[in-house]
Amino acid sequence: MSNQPQIHLKVRNLSKNFGGLQAVNNVSFEINGPELIGLIGPNGAGKTTLTNLLDGALNPSAGTIYFNGKRIDGNKPYQVAQVGLGRTFQVTRAFRRMTVLENMLVPGMALRTTANRKQVEQKAWEVLEFLTFEHLAHDYARSLSGGQQKLLELGRLLMLDPSIIILDEPFSGVHPKLMEKIYEYITTVNAQGKAFIIISHDMDTIFTLSKRLWVLNFGELIADGDPEVVRHDPAVVEAYLGEEEEAEEGVDVLDVYHLVEERAEEEGEA
Ligand SMILES: Nc1ncnc2c1ncn2[C@@H]1O[C@H](COP(=O)(O)OP(=O)(O)OP(=O)(O)O)[C@@H](O)[C@H]1O
Ligand SMILES: [Mg+2]
Repeated sequence: MSNQPQIHLKVRNLSKNFGGLQAVNNVSFEINGPELIGLIGPNGAGKTTLTNLLDGALNPSAGTIYFNGKRIDGNKPYQVAQVGLGRTFQVTRAFRRMTVLENMLVPGMALRTTANRKQVEQKAWEVLEFLTFEHLAHDYARSLSGGQQKLLELGRLLMLDPSIIILDEPFSGVHPKLMEKIYEYITTVNAQGKAFIIISHDMDTIFTLSKRLWVLNFGELIADGDPEVVRHDPAVVEAYLGEEEEAEEGVDVLDVYHLVEERAEEEGEA
C-alpha cells in the first residue's frame, strides 16, 4: 500500500565495557516503524556509546543487533548506513575546507554506487532546499555557525535516506531560532516515515518532542516508555538527583532538572 521502508530494529542484551568500565550494560529494546524516541541520561550514562554500537563505530562486548531481520552488530558504519541506519555526531564532523554543497555530495557519492554525480547533486539541492540552506551552498563549512554545522550534519545524513536517524545532541550550542527549525525538520522527516532517536540534555525540548523516552543511567536502560509516565518514575528522578538521594512523592524529573539548572546558572553568575 505504501512505499515506506520497513523499520524494525531489535537489540538484545547489548553491552560494552572499556576495561573495567561497563559503559553500556545489557540493553534491550525494539523499534517498530517511524517512532520518535528521546534518549536522556546524566553525563557519562552511555548514550553516545550506545549510538556507537548501533551505527557500527564500536563492536559490542556482548549482545546482538538485528535490522529488518539482518544481523548488523560487527558491521562497519558504512555497511550499517547502507541498510538504513545513520547518525550525527555530538561534535560535528563536517569537512571544514569544503563548501556546504561539496560536504553534501561526499556521503551521497560514497553510498549511492549506482547513482551518477548529476543525480547525487540533484538530491543535494533537494535536501538543501528542504533545510532552507541553499543560500549557503557555496560557503565553506568552516564559516558556518555551530548551529548551522549541526544542520549541515543533518543534511549530510539525509543524503543517505536512512530509515532510522540518530541525532546526538542536535540542539546543544544552537541558537533558539535555529533550534526551532531543527525541531521542525525532525517532526517533518518523522512524519515522512523515518524513525528518530534523539539524544539531548535539553529536557524541555526532549519531553515535548518525543513520543517514547529512554533513560540510561550507568549504562543501564532504566526506563522505556511514554514520556509522561517516565517523568514520574522514581528511578529516573533519582538518577538525576544523584546516588544517595531518594525521590519525594510528586516530584518529577523535569522539576529536578530545572532546579539543578537554576542552581548552575546562579553559580555561573556568582
Ligand atoms: N573510547 C572510550 N574508552 C574508554 N572509556 C570510554 C570511551 N568512550 C566512552 N567512555 C566512557 O564510557 C562512559 C559513557 O560515555 P558516553 O560518552 O557514552 O556517555 P554519554 O551518556 O554520551 O555522556 P554525555 O551526556 O556527557 O555526552 C563514560 O564513563 C565515558 O568516560
Ligand atoms: Mg554523549
